[in-house]
Amino acid sequence: MRIWLAPLHGITNYMFRNSLYRQVGGIDCCVTPFLPVQETAKLNIRNWRDIWPKNNTDILTIPQLMGNKPAHFVDTMRMVHDMYGYEAFNWNIGCPVAQVVRRRRGCGIMPDADAVEAVVRTVTTQTPFRFSVKMRLGLKEPSEGLEILERLNNYPLDFIVIHPRLGTQMYEGEPDLDQMDLLYQHTRHRLIYSGDLFSLDDYLKLQNRYPKIDDWMLGRGLLRNPFLAEELKGCFSGDAKQRFSKYYQLWTQELLDSVKERSTMAKLKELWHYYACFFKLSPEQLQQLLRINDWEQFFDRSLQFVRS
Ligand SMILES: Cc1cc2nc3c(=O)[nH]c(=O)nc-3n(C[C@H](O)[C@H](O)[C@H](O)COP(=O)(O)O)c2cc1C
Repeated sequence: MRIWLAPLHGITNYMFRNSLYRQVGGIDCCVTPFLPVQETAKLNIRNWRDIWPKNNTDILTIPQLMGNKPAHFVDTMRMVHDMYGYEAFNWNIGCPVAQVVRRRRGCGIMPDADAVEAVVRTVTTQTPFRFSVKMRLGLKEPSEGLEILERLNNYPLDFIVIHPRLGTQMYEGEPDLDQMDLLYQHTRHRLIYSGDLFSLDDYLKLQNRYPKIDDWMLGRGLLRNPFLAEELKGCFSGDAKQRFSKYYQLWTQELLDSVKERSTMAKLKELWHYYACFFKLSPEQLQQLLRINDWEQFFDRSLQFVRS
C-alpha cells in the first residue's frame, strides 16, 4: 500500500510537509496544493517556492495544476520541467470553491466532459510528462464524473484520485460510496481514494470494498492525527504526545521563520480545529484557546494541551 498526503490549499505547503515528514513516517508521496497554469509570456514560476526542488527532498512530490486551457498546461508544464525538473503533474478538477467554479476551473469544468478531454488529449499527445487527475463525483450530478472517467479510459494517465463527493456538497455529508463503486467498476486506470479516511477502521472497510486500490490519500485525517499513516501501515511506535510535541514545535518554528507571529497564530488556530480531536479538547477548551490574541500566551496554552 502507498499513502499519499492530500493537497490542502493554505495548509500543506512545503513547510508543513517537511515538518511532518521529519517527525512521522508512513507517508510515501504527496500532491502539492494547486498552482495556476498560464501561457508562457504570463508565467512567473520563480517564486513558486512550494515546488522548489530544495524544498522537496524527502518524498516523491507531484505539483498540482489548475486551469482549463490545454495550451496553458503545455506551457506551464514545460517551464516547470525545464526550471525544476518535474516530470509528473496532477490536474485539479475537484475544487468546489465558488470563485474557482465560476471560472470553469476545479470542479467547475466537470459538467463539460469535452473540455476535460481536450486538456488530457493535448497534454498526453504533446508533452512527454506523466499526467494524472484529481476529481470529485461531479459538480452537480454523479453522471458528470462517470462520463469523464469513461472518456479518460482512452488516454495514458498515471492515476486518477477520486474524492467521492459532489462539488455542491463542498465537504459536507458522507462520501457517496455507491457512486464510488460505479467509478471503481468503470475505470481502467489506477485509482487513489481520497475522502474521510480518519481511522484504521475506515481504512479496513474501504480496503475491503475496493480490493484493487493500493493508494490511499490522507488529508484532514492526518491533521486530526499525524500518526494515521503509521497506524494504517502498522508501524506506529513511541509516545504519541511526545512525538506530537516535537512535530508541533518544529512546525511552529518553520512558520515563525517565514511569517510574523500574528500569521503564525492564525495558521495554528486553523489547525487547532483538527488537533482538538487528537487531544480530545472539549468545545469550551478549544474556544478558550482560539480566543487568546497574544502570541506568547497562545503558544504556551497550546503547548500545555500538547504536553498534558
Ligand atoms: C482546506 C482544504 C484545502 C484543499 N485544497 C485542495 C487542493 O489544493 N487541491 C485538491 O485537489 N484538493 C484540495 N482539497 C481536497 C483534499 O485534497 C481531499 O481530497 C478532501 O479533503 C477529502 O479528503 P480528506 O477527507 O482526507 O480531507 C482541500 C480540502 C480542504 C479541506
